Amino acid sequence: MAALMVGGTLRVGERLPSIRQTRLARGCSAATVFQAYYLLESRGLVRAAPRSGYFVAPPPVPPTISAPTRSQPPAEARPVEVSELVFQLLGSGGHEVHAPFGSAFPSPALFPLERLRCALVAGSRKMSPAQLTTDLPGGHEELRRQISLRYLRQGLSISPDEIVLTNGALEALNLSLQALTRPGDAVLVESPGFYAALQSIERLGLRAIEVPTDALEGADLDSLAALLQQHQHSPPKACWLMSSFQNPLGSLMPPDKKRALVAMLNAHGVPLIEDDVYAELHFAAQPALPAKAFEQDGLVLHCGSFSKCLAPGYRVGWVAAGRLAPTLQRLKLSSSLSGSWPAQAALAEYLQGGGFDHHLRGLRAALAQQRDAMLAAVARHFPAGTRMTRPQGGYFLWVELPEGCDSLALHAQALAEGISLAPGPMFSARREFGRCLRLNYGQPWAEGLERAVARLGALARTA
Ligand SMILES: Cc1ncc(COP(=O)(O)O)c(C=O)c1O
Repeated sequence: MAALMVGGTLRVGERLPSIRQTRLARGCSAATVFQAYYLLESRGLVRAAPRSGYFVAPPPVPPTISAPTRSQPPAEARPVEVSELVFQLLGSGGHEVHAPFGSAFPSPALFPLERLRCALVAGSRKMSPAQLTTDLPGGHEELRRQISLRYLRQGLSISPDEIVLTNGALEALNLSLQALTRPGDAVLVESPGFYAALQSIERLGLRAIEVPTDALEGADLDSLAALLQQHQHSPPKACWLMSSFQNPLGSLMPPDKKRALVAMLNAHGVPLIEDDVYAELHFAAQPALPAKAFEQDGLVLHCGSFSKCLAPGYRVGWVAAGRLAPTLQRLKLSSSLSGSWPAQAALAEYLQGGGFDHHLRGLRAALAQQRDAMLAAVARHFPAGTRMTRPQGGYFLWVELPEGCDSLALHAQALAEGISLAPGPMFSARREFGRCLRLNYGQPWAEGLERAVARLGALARTA
């Protein structure tokens, strides 16, 4: 029925077939038909007129920008099982995707590919034979110095020796978690949170304690305090979260909240694994300080990456591991010896050559513009009652569809038409957020993307 309305067969103001007619036509009970009409009404597609029946409703008022609702996860630590679902949903199922709203990366068109190629050649030329063999462990010294210099510009004093270079931030995060835990331990994670954090917990045989996380300001500190209190006799061994431009919500913790977070975790002796891969993608003039800036005891492991802001395929990330740096260095050595030296040399060359900040200014401006285009498109085309925020950085929009919608069903339908999206249950240890989805606005805006959002909106009315 909803499809007939979206397709225009049933026009605004027209009366839907009566309950009796539909019951006879479909061979189902009156209760089922009532239920179906009730669902259409809750989605704003029809309105009920007393004693007259149901009528096709006028086009809904556009969705407003208002924070999606928060979840209330249970307080106990639980095993996690998400990997199967995540792998299923990450694949394209053989479909050719023309609107990659489910992607984890921005468009390659936004990266300085030619300059990186030159840096790769120049950096490789400078490598000594020893650097290709004996000097491998520890990671490229000049690159670590360049990363340390970027911290310094934010007022953070982090020595290059504290920095362990890794294969992307994902390895940095995984090694950090491995360094802090043993199978069976409990770990604090955000809800909703980055699916790879949940997958790590699953793979290492850990248990998750979910912290309700707000779409505007990130992890809820009152809930965190209550959870730490509740688990004081068997405290969690780590807290893994994103304090800036959280994936999937896009939330940003204000500085005072970051300070309070670090103090609270410190008081309970819980190390923080801070995933800060979107740090460089801020839309405000000034960058957001990481929680690491407020650390008191070397217990914040700050994980960063060039994957999101400069060179995805180079797979270069790092962890600034504070007093745990020697442990992380050993783990890195025993797991993969070293990252790719040519990739590290190329990034060192690129950073030394200048131009990174110029590139970042362009990238941020492009992403901010694309965010606005995506917000406007969702507001134009999605059903009334849709909620979303306006992220201050990164390239993800978290959208909550009206009551009754199902983002997994929407994902399947959209993918069959070449439109990908990341359904909410991917970001939850308990497959929550069934009517939420994450949309990537990392592609330069084009008419095809507007059409794809319009199509998603139409499908959302029936999903
Ligand atoms: C929140 C978050 N953390 C970490 C990563 C992994 O970063 P990298 O590609 O540097 O391994 C991603 C990539 O999607 C991410 O979204």
